[in-house]
Amino acid sequence: MHQEAWNEELQALREEALESLRLSVDEASLEAWRVRYFGKKSQLTAWSRQLGGMDPEERRAVGQQLNAVREVLESGYKGQLEEVRAQAIRHQLAAETLDVTLPGRARRVGTLHPTTRTIEEIEAVFLALGFTIAEGMEVETDEYNFEMLNVPKDHPARDMQDTFYLTDELLLRTHTSPMQVRVMKQIGPNQPLKVIVPGRVYRRDEDDATHSHAFAQIEGLVVGEGVRMSDLKGTLEAFAKALFGQQQSIRLRPSFFPFTEPSVEVDVRCIQCQGTGCRVCKDTGWIEILGAGMVHPHVLEAAGYDARRFSGFAFGMGPERVAMLKYGIPDIRLLYQNDLRFLTQFRRVLS
Ligand code: DAH
Repeated sequence: MHQEAWNEELQALREEALESLRLSVDEASLEAWRVRYFGKKSQLTAWSRQLGGMDPEERRAVGQQLNAVREVLESGYKGQLEEVRAQAIRHQLAAETLDVTLPGRARRVGTLHPTTRTIEEIEAVFLALGFTIAEGMEVETDEYNFEMLNVPKDHPARDMQDTFYLTDELLLRTHTSPMQVRVMKQIGPNQPLKVIVPGRVYRRDEDDATHSHAFAQIEGLVVGEGVRMSDLKGTLEAFAKALFGQQQSIRLRPSFFPFTEPSVEVDVRCIQCQGTGCRVCKDTGWIEILGAGMVHPHVLEAAGYDARRFSGFAFGMGPERVAMLKYGIPDIRLLYQNDLRFLTQFRRVLS
C-alpha cells in the first residue's frame, strides 16, 4: 500500500471508531468497543503486525500514523469511560434523591382498647408497689367461686351473683375472687404474698348503661403476718393517687362481703367535680371504685393458711368503671360494641 492509501485507511478507521465510541454509552458497549478496536483481532493489531515486513522508511511513516491513531482512540476511550461512569453515578443519585422538605405521611397506628389501657395502668401501679400478677380461668368450680369464699349453697349473697352454669359444679366465674384461694394454695401455705388478678367475669345481668353480662375485674390480695386494715387503707390510697392524681383522697364505708370481715366500699373524690358535687357523683362528692376488706379467716383456712398467724386484705375493682370515670364514657356498652367511631378516639397518631 502507498503512503496515501495507508493514510486514507487509517483516517477511515479513526472516524469509524470515534463515531462508534460516541454511540457507546454504557460500560458494556464500551468494553465491546475496546475489544473491537484494540483486541487481538482488531484492524490496528493486524496492521501493526504488517509493519515488520516494511522497509524502514515506510515502517517509520506508517508506524507514526498508526501510533497517532491509537493514541487518539485510547484517549477517546478513556474520556468516554469516565463520562459514562460519571453519568451512571448522576443517574443513581437522581434516583435516590430524597426530598426532605416533603411533608411526612402520618401513620395511623392501632391503639389499645380503653379497657386494656386502663387495666395496664392499674397493673403498673401495683407492680410498682411490689405486687405480682396472676391470671385465672373463666370457667370455675362452684367450690372456688363461692364455697371457699364463705358463700355456701343457698347463701343469699348468691342472688347478687347469678351466673351461667355449665354443670351443677362448673360455672362462668362471677368475680376474680376465686383466684384468692388458688393463689394462696399455689404459693402457700403460710407464705406471704402480694398479687393482683385481672380477668373477665360473668353475671346473669341484663345489659344496660352500667351493667354487662361479661365484664372485667381486677382482684387484689395481700397476705402476711400482721397485715392490718391500715395497710389496706394505705395501699388503696397510694393506688388512688397514682391513678387519679396526688390530690386524691379515699374514704372507706362499712359494707358486707362474705369473704371479708370487716368489709368496706372504697370511694375516691369525684373525678368530675373534685368533690364539690355534680351529676356524676350525684352531688355526694364521692365515687365508689372498689370493694375491699380483711380476708375472712374461713378463706385463709380454705387455702390451708394458719388464720391465727396470718391475716390479709383483699379488694376487687372494675377497670371498666375506672375507664368510664377517667375518660367520661357514659355507657359501658360502648366498651363492647367495637364501634370504630368510639374506639378511634383513643387512637394515637404517630408521624
Ligand atoms: N368479688 C367482689 C365482687 O365481685 C368484689 C370484691 C369485694 C372483691 C371485696 C374483694 C373484696 O376481694 O375484698 O363484687
